[in-house]
Amino acid sequence: MTRRTLAVVSAGLGQPSSTRLLADQLAAAARDELVGRGADVELRPVDLREHAHDVVNHLLTGFAPTALRRTLDAVAAADGLIAVTPIFNASYNGLFKSFFDVVDRDALAGTPVLVGATGGTARHSLALEHAVRPMFAYLRAVVLPTAVFAAPEDWAGDDGDSALRARIRRAGAELAEQVDRRPATSGPADPFALTTDFAALLAGHDPT
Ligand SMILES: Cc1cc2nc3c(=O)[nH]c(=O)nc-3n(C[C@H](O)[C@H](O)[C@H](O)COP(=O)(O)O)c2cc1C
Repeated sequence: MTRRTLAVVSAGLGQPSSTRLLADQLAAAARDELVGRGADVELRPVDLREHAHDVVNHLLTGFAPTALRRTLDAVAAADGLIAVTPIFNASYNGLFKSFFDVVDRDALAGTPVLVGATGGTARHSLALEHAVRPMFAYLRAVVLPTAVFAAPEDWAGDDGDSALRARIRRAGAELAEQVDRRPATSGPADPFALTTDFAALLAGHDPT
């Protein structure tokens, strides 16, 4: 059985957070679809509010404190990414942008990314298309066609079979399909991994 990991990033600030809720529902939809395809799925939830201070410190110093480093490595090593932001002033919020500003430059190249957003008004749903999608395109991620926006009225009408649920299922299936057609990731590069072939050294081969 192939093991797949999905990083599930939420930039929600509220507690409880509708952004976290949307991220979790997208993750469950993608997981169910991948399990149906015979995969063993690990979800790695990331709440950016827990890393907010570390993200700013990283921006100021260029170094990631340990907890943030682990999270950045987990995101880079995932087979797929779900990234959900609350809309602030008609765009992603500052925490979401700052986090992806410190993600290693090539970390998301080729990674399937499902994007979502929550907002106070459905009138701002296109922020996903004019702000979030271009940012991940710049990072050379493979952004899925269905982006999921949830406004307050979407939650109010959610009886398990709503239009929002249908979008979540469609988006989850798209992510699962993209993850399924790729080889499983091998995890982050180990900077201490042995690169020397000792058998060759003993045989007198000079690796330099
Ligand atoms: C500073 C600020 C700016 C906001 N700007 C917008 C906005 O431009 N458009 C919108 O639809 N909602 C806006 N909202 C509402 C949030 O997007 C909405 O409440 C979101 O779902 C909160 O997510 P959370 O529950 O995960 O914290 C704003 C909220 C705050 C605090």
